[in-house]
Formats: sequence, C-alpha cells, structure tokens
Amino acid sequence: MAHSQNPPVFTLAEARTIGQPIADPSNSTVLPARFGGGSLALLQDTLLIETLAHFNRERIPERVVHARAAAAWGEFEVTHDISHLTTAKFLNGIGKKTKVLQRISTVGGATGSAETVRDVRGFSVKFFTEEGNHDIVGNDIPVFFVRDPVKFPSLNRSHKKNPRSNTADETMFWDFHVNNQEGVHALMHLFGSRGIPASLRNINGFGVHTYKLVAVDGSFKYCKFHFKPIGGVQNMSPEDAAKNAGENADYHTADLFNAIENGDYPVWTLYVQVMEPKVAETYPVNIFDITKTWPHKDFPLLPVGNMTLNKNPHNYFEDVEQAAFSPSNMVPGISVTPDPMLQARMFAYPDAQRYRLGVNYQQLASNRALSRVYTPYERDGAASFNGNYGGEPNYVRSDFTVAKPGQKSIEHDEWAGGKVGIHEIPVSDADFAQATELWNIFGTQPGEQEGFVKNVAGAIQDIPKKLQEGTIAMFSKVHPDIGRKLQAELNSAGKISASAQSQESARSYQLIFDVQVSQDRTGIFVAARPLTPIGIVSGERCGGPRASLPAPTVFTGRPLRGTLVISHDKRQEDVFDVVQLTLQGEVQSIIRLSSGSYCKIKKPLILMSSVKVANEFEQIDAEDPHTVTYQTEFFFDIPDFTTLPSSHGNNTPKRLPPSMRVVKSDFISAATAEIHNSGSIAGTCDVTYKIAACVFAGGRLKSDASREIILMPIEDKPPPLEPEDFGKEYRLVGATSLRPSWGLRKSLMVVVSSMEPRPLTFSNREEGCESTEVLLHLKTEGLSDGNKSRSSDVFFSGRAKGSYVNGRGTAISVGCVEEDKVRNK
Ligand code: HEM
Repeated sequence: MAHSQNPPVFTLAEARTIGQPIADPSNSTVLPARFGGGSLALLQDTLLIETLAHFNRERIPERVVHARAAAAWGEFEVTHDISHLTTAKFLNGIGKKTKVLQRISTVGGATGSAETVRDVRGFSVKFFTEEGNHDIVGNDIPVFFVRDPVKFPSLNRSHKKNPRSNTADETMFWDFHVNNQEGVHALMHLFGSRGIPASLRNINGFGVHTYKLVAVDGSFKYCKFHFKPIGGVQNMSPEDAAKNAGENADYHTADLFNAIENGDYPVWTLYVQVMEPKVAETYPVNIFDITKTWPHKDFPLLPVGNMTLNKNPHNYFEDVEQAAFSPSNMVPGISVTPDPMLQARMFAYPDAQRYRLGVNYQQLASNRALSRVYTPYERDGAASFNGNYGGEPNYVRSDFTVAKPGQKSIEHDEWAGGKVGIHEIPVSDADFAQATELWNIFGTQPGEQEGFVKNVAGAIQDIPKKLQEGTIAMFSKVHPDIGRKLQAELNSAGKISASAQSQESARSYQLIFDVQVSQDRTGIFVAARPLTPIGIVSGERCGGPRASLPAPTVFTGRPLRGTLVISHDKRQEDVFDVVQLTLQGEVQSIIRLSSGSYCKIKKPLILMSSVKVANEFEQIDAEDPHTVTYQTEFFFDIPDFTTLPSSHGNNTPKRLPPSMRVVKSDFISAATAEIHNSGSIAGTCDVTYKIAACVFAGGRLKSDASREIILMPIEDKPPPLEPEDFGKEYRLVGATSLRPSWGLRKSLMVVVSSMEPRPLTFSNREEGCESTEVLLHLKTEGLSDGNKSRSSDVFFSGRAKGSYVNGRGTAISVGCVEEDKVRNK
C-alpha cells in the first residue's frame, strides 16, 4: 500500500460530509450498555448496516466453466515480424511491446477447488493493443472434445458434479464420451502425462480454432496460434497431484504467484501455423473441426514473439475475477472463420459476462481497452462509469456526432457457403486417426503409454460395466493395444471390465465341466476353474434385512465378481453392520464298489471368506419408496486347486480312493469316475459350489442368501498352498470379539478377510485335524461399528490356527498373543 505520505482515514462508502470520520470501524453504535452486557443496535448506524449489507453482496456468479484460475499481468514482445501475413499492429514490428493479462484455469472445478487435478487448463490471454483488445481464449491441449456447440453445456455438465449427489462422477464423464466419440483425440491428451501440469508456468497454450490472418491487401491465410513455454512442458505424477491437492488446494496459484514475486518470470513464445485457403479446400483434415490438429510437418510453427508474465494482480477480485476474456475480442488483421464452435463462443462469452459482471463489464479495470473506445450507441445500463458519452447523440446517422466511420472490415470468404441445415459430421475412422498418431508418439517416450493406460484404467475402474466396455471399445479403435492393456490393468486391479465379461460369460454358459482330482502326501487336490451363476436363493430372518446376490455380471480368468444387495424397511435403523460372504464347495461322489454296493462321499471343497463392513456399501435407488437399498461389490480369487479335508464322519472313508479320476462329461455338474485299484469300478462325481452371504447386526445373524455356481476347466495344476503363503497382510474384521480379550492374553477368535483377496485355506497336515498353524500379521483398518468407524490401527502377531468354522467363513483362532507384539497406532 503506497499511502505512507498521506494515509487515508476510515470513512463510510460515501464519505461523511456531516459528523465525524469513522474513528473505529470495529464498533457499532448502540444504546448504552445495561447490566454489564450488550445493548440495542440502531438503524441509524450506517457503518453497521453498510458493512453487513455489502458483505452480503460480495459474491458474483463464478464462471460457469473455468471458474478456478491463477492470473498475472505481463508483456508481449514481437521477435519476428509477420506484417506480410496480418495487419494486426500488435504482431508487427520487431520489438513492439503490448501489455497482456493472462489467466490460466482448470475447467470443471469451482472457484475454491483443488488445482492439481487431471483437467484441461484454460489459457486466456488479453492483449491490450493500440487497436483495442485482442483475446486468445484457448486451452493447454490443441484439440477439443466436441465440434458442435450445442453439445458444449452437456460436455461440461458431464465433467462436473452429479446433480443428485453433488460429487464427481466418472460414470457421467465416460457416458458422455463413449456416446460422443469425436472427443477421443482430446481424451488421449487429457489422460496422457500432460493431463496434470507440474506448474502453470510449464504448459502449452493453443488457440485451438482456425482463425484468419488478413494482410494489408485483403488476402488472408488460415492460421492457428500456439504458445510454448520457454522452460518446456513439465508434468506432475498422479500421486504427487493427489498429495498436493490434499495439502494445498492453491498449489498452482501459489507457484505462479511466488515465481513472479521472486522475479522468476515465466515466458512463452507465440507461434503461428499458416495454411493457404486453396490448400484448405483439399486438405484431408477439416480445418473448422476443432477435434483435429494441423500436422507440424505440413504446417511448421513460425515464431512471432515472446510473452512474459512479470506482475502479479494487485487485487485478485478486481484484476482476475472481473476479467472478461472472449474470442469475440479481435483486432483488425485477425478474423473469424466458419468454425461453428468459434461462432458460438463469440456469442457465449460476452453473454456470460453481461450476466456475471453486468452490462458495462467492458468498463471494468481489467477489461478497459488502452486504445480509445467510442460506442455512443452502447450507453447507460447498470454501473456505467465511463462518462456515458455526455450529450453525444444516442442514435445512429446523426449530423452532430463527433465520431468518424472506421475502416470496413474484410468480407467473409465464400468457401463456407452452401445451404444452411443440420450438417452433422458423423464420427468416423478419421476421428481416430490423429488419436492413433498420438498413441504412437506416446510410444516413443518411456512410460508414456503405460501411464496413459493406468490413468484411464483408474478413471474407469468403478464405472458401470457396460460403460467400461464402451470405453475400452472406444480406445481399442484408437489402437487395439490400448484396449488390451486397459483390460489387463483392470484385471490386475481386480476391476474386471465388461468386455472380458461378454467373452467369458459366453464361454461359461457352455456348461462344460472338467475337474481333475489327484493326491499327494498332503492331501487330495481338485483342480478346477470356475464359474457361472445358475441360481439364486434369498432368505430373510426375524423380519430383518433382505439380502440377495444378483447374478455376477463379470467373469474373467479366476476371480469371481459379484454384487451383494441388502434392502430393508426405511423405518429400521442399524439393521446390519457386517456381512460375511463365503464361497463353499462340495464334492459328492457315488462310487460303485467291487462288492456291488455304492459308497456316497460328500466332501467340503473350497471355503473362502470375505467380510464386508457396513461402510463399504453404497446406497442405491430403491424402486419402493419405503425401502432403503444398499449394495457392494465383492470378489473371490478362486484357487486353481484345493486340498480336500480327509475327515468326514465315521461312515465314509477318510480318503477318497487314491486313483480316482474324474473325466470330462458333457452334462452339467456330473462326471464319470473310474476306480482303478479295485477293478475299474465306475462312479460319478458331482461338484457344487455356492456363495453365501450372512448378514449380521450386533453379532446376530439377521439374514442370509446364497447362490450356486459351477466350475470351468483348468489347464495347469499349480502347486498346493503352504503355510508360508500366508505371510501377507490380512484385514481384521470382528473387532468386537477382539476387544475384550486384549488384557487377557488368551487365545481369541478373530475373523479375517484377505485384502488381496486370497483364500484362507489350510493344508491338511494332521490326520483328522482340519487346521494348521501359521503366523499371521493382522491389522484393523477403519473398523465399522454400525455407522461409526473406528480408525485405530492395531498390529499384532501371534501363532494363528486356521480352521473352517460352521461353514460360514474362515475363522482364525489366534493363540497366546503376546502383549509386547500388540501396539496401537
Ligand atoms: C461452443 C463452445 C463453447 C462455449 C459455449 C463456451 C462457453 C464459455 C463460457 C460461457 C465461459 C465463461 C466466460 C466468463 O464467464 O467469463 C467460458 C470460459 C472459458 N472457455 Fe469456453 N466455451 C466453449 C468452448 C471453448 C473452447 C473450444 C475453448 C478452448 C479452445 C474454451 C476455453 C475457455 C476458457 C479458457 C475460458 C476461461 C476464460 C477466462 O479465463 O476467463 N472454451 N467458456
């Protein structure tokens, strides 16, 4: 503040003419205080009323898009004269300097949103030229998502928040793009490493549209504007971006502000690409379609000048929030083209600004042209403060006006002529060609293709399967490798896409069945590959919640993926806190013995457990308004083999016949068996699997549901699991049973679910005993107790005994937990 010589005195907004200046703006005028307390405020206290009333009106509408931004003032200096191309004075004459205001924004986020996010960056520059303001309102990527302006509001809504939940919604995003695939090229840019800049000082800027440069003789060339940062493009890893977004929402603004404050001024070089109108007529790329670029090899970048940002805003609201950039602000020598997006923008921006800033927004400090403005036919209106043209005639064609006519502008070219109508450019292979080129360029930079795939996979992993499939199909058209890699990425993250599903489920339903059973010293192995759902049974107890397991929609490889749905009456509260999902199997063999009699053998086959706590469920729309419905996804990683426990009651043999072989059969869940050791006696072997869900509230079973599945064949038999395989980290559920036991140092029963998830199955080490001892490192994480989640992390280790419990999940009994190995974090 430069007031030290003549400091101002506090006053009211319209300074007082009677009475005193404001002695203390922190005190209201009130009746004398009574009883040692406060007193009545008075309407006559203009200071109080003005202060409160103005505060209520401090906000103006934020920009409907590009609301979040940083900005700075600077200077553009011509380094290469292009007066042969354009009459625009600010681009002509080496050394010519022009004041600029630059604003760099994210697109989707609101004013206070985090800056280090994956988004396009807006790149707006206002040149305060001697011929009026010229604005380049571009982006940091060279292409755009749509080419028909009527789609623009939809595009942006799909990138913003869900209208119901007010949360970011990947489903909306991909739903829009899968159904409007002309944007695939822009998506390639957005999900590449440039999608998150390291700094706003290190991004490109593109005018994106094709403009015209008009020469002194009226001839023109088409052109595109490019800004390149002198310091090169630099990006931020998604991990750093997430961290920075969490720690400092203003990360990019602070970086730009501090750099300029420290004299480290960012500089960009402005280039143009130019194209002869004749070339445009036959060039294979439509130059008025902003989903396309012009190849640099055909249209090289011609340098024009450097733009340096050297001054921070003196006040953000006045300089930046009130700034109004618009592609319609053009100086002579640069002209519009029949690009429908550009045409629409020329209306949309001033319209938005009249609404956002008021009809006289051009008079505001950051928009006021340096050259003389004379528009007596635009006057009055709210908040006019430019003298309002005094007594100058307020109608056209007056003999009394002091103004003289300006120069006639160059006419539009004929090329765009033709019949007016809806001329949609349908999405074709041509829309994928440049995206493919970009993918190939990614291939020349280490890690770029992988990064792209990872970024997209991360964004689509939780969207509906149909949309996942659509997204993969769309990117597969760019290059089949992208589809394959996306698929692999999703598979490895356990987020299987629907394209895999369509193939796999088709295969699954062939109902071919082939199980191999063999034995070694540790037990009997059944090699099997799941899975297909074939039925659903749902149950309800005690009037509690209803649980159901709708048909899993995705199958690929080994993981079985499904959805668990729980619904209950709206009036009930806290109806469930834990749901235990188990995958159970049973082998049923009927073997004809040499004596002629039959032996029936039933064996539990696989038992895997996964526990879902209440806060892992999301509420979904229920058809019935009196019902609340939740759902969660689960999956089981089915082992390629399992060990059959050998003890199964007194009436059946302890082991299956050693050389029993199950051969392929054509019909469901049945296979012919032969027993070699006692004279090739045939039998049958049925294997059934089911998934069961048990819903608990306060430790009591409230409801259950189950569904049967069948197995698919497997080629190779992997080695059996050993106790050493359990050295991983498991999530501890069932904290209530754990808590009372802390002090006792006794064995305690805890239920664990594998995080990977991997099956907690145990080899059959001891005859007659279905458990073995393994060392587990258990950890609790965000345990849910009804709706309250406990976040204390508890680590402990101890000897763990694995056992199958009640057919309802893997329970581990942990013996002798030593206190020094237990710690709370
Ligand atoms: C039909 C298409 C489009 C429409 C209707 C549209 C509309 C708008 C509107 C209404 C604003 C807010 C203006 C304000 O309140 O001051 C805006 C901001 C912006 N738009 Fe667009 N836009 C379109 C396409 C584009 C394209 C293709 C680009 C990039 C090439 C772009 C870049 C920007 C930028 C950078 C801003 C922020 C301006 C600033 O810094 O104040 N827009 N757009």
